[in-house]
Amino acid sequence: MKWYSKASAAMVAATTLSGIAAIVAIPAHAATTRYEAESAPATCGGSVASNHSGFSGSGFCDTTNAVGAAVQFTANVPAAGTARLDIRYANGSTANRPADVSVNGTVVQSGFGFDVTGAWTSWATRSITVQLNAGSNTVRLAATTAGGLGNIDYLDVVTDDTGGSSIMQGADVSTLQRAADLGTRFSYADGTQGDPLDILKSVGVNYARLRIWNNPRSGYNNKDKVLQYARTVKAKGLKLMVDFHYSDTWADPGKQFKPAAWASHGISQLQTDVYNYTYDVCNSLKAQGTTPDSVQIGNEINTGMLWEDGRVVNNNFTNLGLLLKAGYNATKACDSGTQVIIHTARVESGARWFYDGIRAQGVQWDITALSYYCMWHGSMSNMASVVSDMRSRYGKPVIIAETAYPYTTTNADSTANVVTSGCSGYPISPAGQQANFAAVQNTARNAGAIGIFYWEPTWYAVPGNGWNPADINNSGNEWDNMAIFDRTGRLNPNIRWLP
Ligand code: GCU
Repeated sequence: MKWYSKASAAMVAATTLSGIAAIVAIPAHAATTRYEAESAPATCGGSVASNHSGFSGSGFCDTTNAVGAAVQFTANVPAAGTARLDIRYANGSTANRPADVSVNGTVVQSGFGFDVTGAWTSWATRSITVQLNAGSNTVRLAATTAGGLGNIDYLDVVTDDTGGSSIMQGADVSTLQRAADLGTRFSYADGTQGDPLDILKSVGVNYARLRIWNNPRSGYNNKDKVLQYARTVKAKGLKLMVDFHYSDTWADPGKQFKPAAWASHGISQLQTDVYNYTYDVCNSLKAQGTTPDSVQIGNEINTGMLWEDGRVVNNNFTNLGLLLKAGYNATKACDSGTQVIIHTARVESGARWFYDGIRAQGVQWDITALSYYCMWHGSMSNMASVVSDMRSRYGKPVIIAETAYPYTTTNADSTANVVTSGCSGYPISPAGQQANFAAVQNTARNAGAIGIFYWEPTWYAVPGNGWNPADINNSGNEWDNMAIFDRTGRLNPNIRWLP
């Protein structure tokens, strides 16, 4: 979010977007079922072998060295929903051996990497998140290069206790750390004061999203602060999503400024920058025991990120593809269980153009994320059809990474509100805000989305917590009428995240 800050009304109208958060998750009580590649019901397109130690079960599948060589698993889950597939393999050759991954006959990921592991006895695990049906599902790995696949040890299917997914009931709380430092008070709807994260949890939030800027002048929302606040978030039992802007300030469809430190870097150095920075933040979080459950590689990257080098011009996704792969690889090198999210604000148009474009570059990702603000992004029914289309076209879970709705037209500070009119059928009132948020959740969920994030629900107007990272003390809040807490910090009594 936040693209609007510096944009004229005309620019806003022309750029079509907005911004905020998203999430994904393998549930609190994960269940894992192992399917060995060397035994039925798996079928091994090659020979079952046991000549390299370290495998599980009685051996592994050594596929034929040929394009199309495949291992096929049959996996049973009790309920339809999201599952993480963890595939263990070894590749002691000197070349990566990518595969097409198909679920129930549809390719859900091409170029899935079985990268070199250094030795046939060095086993590694690669993960991909997919949608499974209730009952029996086929998961097929088919080589796309002449080397065939690596040696495949097993497939672990990770679901929650019911075999389905837990819903990401998310809130982007990126300004909350600053609010806490300023002594900002929050209260439940009945006026009782409380910790803002506890209050959010009491109305259903289970996932927090934090944006990260490389070197913002405010000294907030940077690596140090995200590390600090991640401890607070995790201590509350919330899941954590880290939203990489790869900028020192707001990145959105209207602007994707490079961090000053990378300003002179070209596409080749930028790939290294993205890899190193992403890995460093993720790994530092992991080292302190707060591994991110998911990360966004870029924020609302409708036409790319790290402009101009990473911008999509004339339908050319080459450079963006390179940057997204660097971010994906860094995340998986940090922790294979961390979900990679690609986020755009393209609900009203161009979603296929974008995701087809990056897919054609061989970009991998786990969750497709869209922003949806009814004021800017079209009808609910169109949103539902895009969510459903994204889900079936790419075979990945979909989330609404950002949404919000005003509860008042009154401005609480000297900075004008960015949204002053609402959407048909939803009055601008606490009840209207609740009704709109409930409708967005129900509509997206009915279309198959597994999570919805409210953007900055706790950001009510407080002097010193301004929008501009270059002047956080003197800039105001353009979002105060979209918070779910009123100007005194009291919760909208109606608002709920729906399970
Ligand atoms: C070697 C190795 C096999 C492996 C094969 C390959 O023969 O021993 O385990 O599958 O290389 O290149 O695929």
